Amino acid sequence: MKIRFDDRVVIVTGAGGGLGRAHALAFAALGARVVVNDLGTSPLGEGGNTAPAQQVVDEIIAAGGEAVANYDSVLDGDKIIQAALDNFGRIDVLVNNAGILRDKSFHKMTEEDWDMIYNVHVKGAFKLTHAAWPLFRDQAFGRVIFTSSAAGIYGNFGQANYSMAKLGLHGLAQTLALEGRTKNILVNSIAPVAGSRMTESIMPPDLIKKLKPEYISPLVLWLSSEANQDNTGGIYEVGAGYMAKLRWERSRGVTLPLADGITVDDVARQWKQITDFNDASHPASAQEAMMDMFANLSQA
Ligand SMILES: NC(=O)c1ccc[n+]([C@@H]2O[C@H](COP(=O)([O-])OP(=O)(O)OC[C@H]3O[C@@H](n4cnc5c(N)ncnc54)[C@H](O)[C@@H]3O)[C@@H](O)[C@H]2O)c1
Repeated sequence: MKIRFDDRVVIVTGAGGGLGRAHALAFAALGARVVVNDLGTSPLGEGGNTAPAQQVVDEIIAAGGEAVANYDSVLDGDKIIQAALDNFGRIDVLVNNAGILRDKSFHKMTEEDWDMIYNVHVKGAFKLTHAAWPLFRDQAFGRVIFTSSAAGIYGNFGQANYSMAKLGLHGLAQTLALEGRTKNILVNSIAPVAGSRMTESIMPPDLIKKLKPEYISPLVLWLSSEANQDNTGGIYEVGAGYMAKLRWERSRGVTLPLADGITVDDVARQWKQITDFNDASHPASAQEAMMDMFANLSQA
């Protein structure tokens, strides 16, 4: 099977460097027309520069591909969608990738640090996705990628704001997957690990060099392709050639009789069983997750 993106229009946000650049180059190499968006900020989200996006566009064109640069902030996501329409007449794939860091331990974190991270990662991704959504619905085709992080999935010291944003994006992805499915709009999240200017302050230089962003893009392209017909709502860890899907796991739990009421001592007595992951289950929807609760009500 040879997956290609001929006639597809792809937007990659924050594509002036790092992961976004690798995604943009990979899509273009397989025939996509690409909108290379990048505001050109510092890793802390300061300033602006048109050079990074333009350089990636130059690289794509030099390699025989098709791309245009866009320098808007993702906070003006509707303008980025409009740029795709103005230049290429449609949009098929949206890769929400732009990001910044404002790392600080929580007691030192300011409201501004919190808001900036929320704005660029969550509000920005919302603005683009919300503007693209009706177009995806009308054409009964759309692929959306959200860029989550291990920091959101597992927590990471000094990244309270970033963790909130990154797992928030996957919450958004899970509901959009449900709302988009009947219109052939598939929505997935990735939690990547790669060497970039974002990670160069926390990883040694030789590791940064080895952890190529190019190792992330093939999974993004697969999830964004027409060949992907039913993978939606997933979150995938990816880096250094490793790729895996995550899912929720729930302990078997306990079901307490309701007739005599439930006390804190009941919880203490049952704690071992409540937290025992032998015979764990993997609920895949809120409905499935609530079944045991409702079954207990019917016995009350
Ligand atoms: N590198 C990793 O290991 C790693 C791990 C987990 C998640 N991520 C996520 O992957 C994404 C890409 O990160 P990266 O490592 O390539 O970092 P990067 O700093 O190289 O790339 C981020 C890009 O986003 C751009 N950007 C910032 N604010 C913007 C805005 N408001 N509008 C448009 N563009 C904006 C920047 O100019 C930059 O080019 C980010 O969302 C990041 O949080 C990266």
